[in-house]
Parts: sequence; C-alpha cells; structure tokens
Amino acid sequence: MEADVLIIGSGAAGLTAALQLAATRKVVVLAKGSISDGATAWAQGGIAAVLEPGDNFANHIEDTMVAGAGLNNRATVEFVVENAPLAIERLAKLGVPFNLEGNDWHLTREGGHSHRRIVHVDDATGWAVQQALETAARAHPNISLVPDLVAIDLILGRHQERFSTSGRIHGVYALNRKTGRVETFTARATVLASGGAGRTYLYSTAPRGATGDGIAMAWRAGCRVSNMEFMQFHPTCLYNLEVKNFLITEAVRGEGGILKNPKTGHRYMPDYDDRAELAPRDIVARANDAEIKRDGLDYVHLDISHKPPEFVKTHFPNIYEKLMGLGIDITREPIPVVPAQHYTCGGVIVDLDGRTDAPGLYAAGEVTQSGLHGANRLASNSLLECFVFGDACARHIEANWDRLPPPPPIRSWDESRVTDSDEEVVIAQCWREIRQFMWNFVGIVRTTKRLERAQHRIDLLRSEVEDYYRHFRVTPDLIELRNLVEVAALIIRSALARHESRGLHFTLDYPEMADSAVDTILLP
Ligand code: FAD
Ligand code: SIN
Repeated sequence: MEADVLIIGSGAAGLTAALQLAATRKVVVLAKGSISDGATAWAQGGIAAVLEPGDNFANHIEDTMVAGAGLNNRATVEFVVENAPLAIERLAKLGVPFNLEGNDWHLTREGGHSHRRIVHVDDATGWAVQQALETAARAHPNISLVPDLVAIDLILGRHQERFSTSGRIHGVYALNRKTGRVETFTARATVLASGGAGRTYLYSTAPRGATGDGIAMAWRAGCRVSNMEFMQFHPTCLYNLEVKNFLITEAVRGEGGILKNPKTGHRYMPDYDDRAELAPRDIVARANDAEIKRDGLDYVHLDISHKPPEFVKTHFPNIYEKLMGLGIDITREPIPVVPAQHYTCGGVIVDLDGRTDAPGLYAAGEVTQSGLHGANRLASNSLLECFVFGDACARHIEANWDRLPPPPPIRSWDESRVTDSDEEVVIAQCWREIRQFMWNFVGIVRTTKRLERAQHRIDLLRSEVEDYYRHFRVTPDLIELRNLVEVAALIIRSALARHESRGLHFTLDYPEMADSAVDTILLP
C-alpha cells in the first residue's frame, strides 16, 4: 500500500500529525491493536499550558527545567511551552470538553508546577482527547486509520528491488494480525508516533502495547537514541491484587491528597522535601519506595478523605467509581498505592521539526527524546509534547514536500526460510524474565552491581531472541519481545554509562549530581 505520508501510531502524536497533513496529503495511520489502544486514551490528569492570569511562559519553562534537573534543551522547552496555549485552543475547537469555571478554564495543579496550569476533562482527559482526535480523523477523506497492523521494521535502501545502501526510510513492513501476512507500506515520509516502552517493567501504568517498538525500529535503522536511563516511575499506582496498573492521578495530590505511612499514620513527604506531596515525581516516587522498603510494607496510603465528599466526587468521578467498585470509598478511607513505571523520557533523537537521523523519518511523542523532559518529565508536559511535535513534523513535511522522493519499488517480505514456531513458551518465558529483572535491577534505586547483573541477563536473552527470530515466522508477541529486548539493552547501557545521580536516574554508587548536565547518546 502506498500513501503520501505513513504514520505509525494513532495516539495524540500520530493523529495530530495526520490531521495537520490531511489538508493536502493522503495519510495512512497504522495501529497495532485498536485505534484507541495507546497511552493517550489512559491519560488522567490533563495538559499543561500557561492559561492562568499571573502565570507566564518563563514560569512554565523554569518549572520544566527544574523537574528535568537541568538536562533539558532550553530551546525545545521554550518551543513547546510557547506553543501550548495554541495547542489547547485547537483541541477545544475539535470539541474536547475541557472543564470550565464560568468562562475560564478550570485549571488543576500537579507536582513541580508553581501555578495552576493543567487543563483537564474531569479525571479522564486522555479519553476525551483521543475521542475528539479520532472522530475528526475518521471524518477526513484523506486519512485512513488502519488497526491491527504491527510494524516490524522500517524499510531502507537494502529492501529496495534494486539494492541500495541508502539510509532513507521508505515506509514499514507490518504484520496484519487478521491475515497473519506481512504487508509493505510505503510513503514519501514516515512518522513514528508509537509511544513509550513502559512494558519493559513488571509494574507499569502503561498499556500492554507500550513495548518500545518505535525506539527499537529506529535504532535498527541507524538512528541515535538518547537518555534511556530516565524511566519515570509514577508515585501513585493503585495497589490491588486484581487491578494491576490503575493510575491514581497526581491531581489528587494537587487538590490536597496527602501521603501517609499506613503503619504509623505519619504524613512523611514533608520529611523528604519542602514541597511535600507536590515535589517532582522522582522525589515522591523515591520517598514512597523508601517508606515501603524500610518498613516492609506492601503499599503506602494516599488520603483525600479529609476533603468534602462532593468535592472529591466531582473532581475525580472516574477514580471514585472505579475504586467504589473495588470496595474502597475514597471519600472515607485512604487509597493503597505503590510506585510503578509510567513514562519513557528517553527515545529517538529529534530536532525541532521532528526530524530523526534517517532521511524521510520523523518522530513525535513518547517515542522521542526531543530535549523537553531532561532527566525527569514535569507532569502533564507529555500530551503537550505530542500536540506540538505532531504539528511540527507535519509542517516540515509539507514545507519540504518537493524534496521528498517518491518511494522506489520495494521487495516483499521474505518468509522462505522460516517455519511456524514450535515453542511459544520461549516467548512467554523471555518476556517475564526481562520485566522481572528490569524491575528488580534497573528500577527506582540502582547500583552498578545490579545494572551489571541486568546486563549479563539481557545479553543472553538477546542472542536467544535473535536466534528465535531468524528461524520462526513472526507473530505479534515475537515482534514485541524482539523490541523489548532491544530497548531493555539500551536502558541498561545508558544507566551504566551515567556516573552520577540526576533526576530519575538514582544510583547508590554515584549519589551526587555532576557539575555539568550531559545527555547519554547511543550511536547505533
Ligand atoms: P500513544 O498514545 O501511546 O500511542 C501509541 C500508538 O502507537 C498506538 O496507536 C499503538 O497502537 C501504536 N503502535 C505502537 N507500536 C506499534 C507498532 N509496532 N505497529 C503499529 N502501531 C504501533 N501525560 C500527560 O501529559 N498528562 C496526563 O494526564 C497523563 N496521564 C497518563 C496516565 C497514564 C495511565 C499513562 C500510561 C500515561 C499518562 N500520560 C499523561 C502520558 C501520556 O499519556 C503519553 O505520553 C502520551 O499519550 C503518548 O502519546 P503518543 O501519541 O506518543 O503514544
Ligand atoms: C497523572 O494524572 O498523574 C499523570 C499525569 C502525567 O503523567 O503527566
């Protein structure tokens, strides 16, 4: 199938790019499951933008840089922050029903923000945004949304019918889940908008498909990847034996929720940081982890029951309902919570136009390292990044259309030397092993010894998975496992390379922050 522009991913980044491009170009958007399956639909808190009287861009820029522990690229931070109000206006025009207070936005507050700055739709902002973007995309005659296609690898010169050593990207090979066949998708420009890699970890708030496919594909295609050691752990994921990855939004703390040690009832955050529950996420997650480990707890308590019940119910209707269903009345009792992996700060390096190192390949959203987040993402800056960079990619593609060559004839996927897998158990076993040791050895608090243990294990698994991949027909699970191994290896390598503690990377062997802030850049 040939499109003008191919977009891999149907979340906030991919659909923003698609809607912008569709004015002039035919766009095909692939999703590996259903169109709404990405992290976007799961976002709770909201989107950060300077909209409150008394707030200004300088404050938002400063808060982002402070959370990012100085590793952010100031030009990127300025670019995103200054484009935020426009992005919100565009979403409102698309019909996102943001909460209002009279004629003004209702703004909530989250950790690390010096002002009320978060526009939201109750406590289910992502769902409303995803629905609005999807509705507009479905209605557009120039956009084809194609679910159930799992991208395997980017198409380069070596895949052309007339072999070439060119590193230009011409599209992607993708497995059709319904037919089991690998299809060829080509385009003049390809945009990676495939989200993060949260499922490298045992406990994660991210959806099942967050296996870092885009990062691994771009890496294999020769693009640099950066800052993979900065995995963000959200401090407050629900602790429940049945529901494993339900987030309790940071806005609960923003609206007065406090963290307590369930054994002593002590409110401990002021002991760790002057900003208490509203300190940046890395600090709160480490504090929760420390309390849990020191006292041998299963969880800590997040308590908002001191607020009037009507206030709690109207601010957090979805969380209230969900937890009532599990037997927890949050207007009367505390919520058991634990930290869990939440966001991938590192990724494929892009410039302000969303260009990667490979000609013809753009990227936007959680798959990238744009310089916005530095060593720790400020809450609610990530959806914003998707809107700003999705738009930036589209504008650059449009402005440079005549310089993008049409795709050459491409060879079909070759399955002549593989057979059907006879040992699916290998995939399930490797998958479990990776997520388990990444959690235990490459988690919130690290040591060089633990990272080296993880390194040994990933080297072994990598050769096993590569061997398996060479011999057997691809399945969605095998494609994801191959990417998971690649991304886990990149995280471990980056963590071992950083000899300091900064933002989300905290190691007992190098507890101090170095004088200068330097990105970890891995060259393929
Ligand atoms: P996603 O929305 O994750 O979309 C990825 C897309 O790529 C999907 O369509 C998927 O099918 C597709 N894809 C992936 N791999 C392949 C493949 N191999 N082939 C084909 N398609 C593929 N951020 C905020 O700013 N505010 C919040 O309040 C907030 N709350 C959050 C709550 C939760 C529970 C989580 C998990 C995250 C939250 N975040 C929040 C982070 C934010 O939601 C994500 O960073 C953002 O939605 C990422 O959007 P994206 O477009 O980059 O990717
Ligand atoms: C949340 O609602 O706590 C998540 C916000 C974010 O990840 O930015």
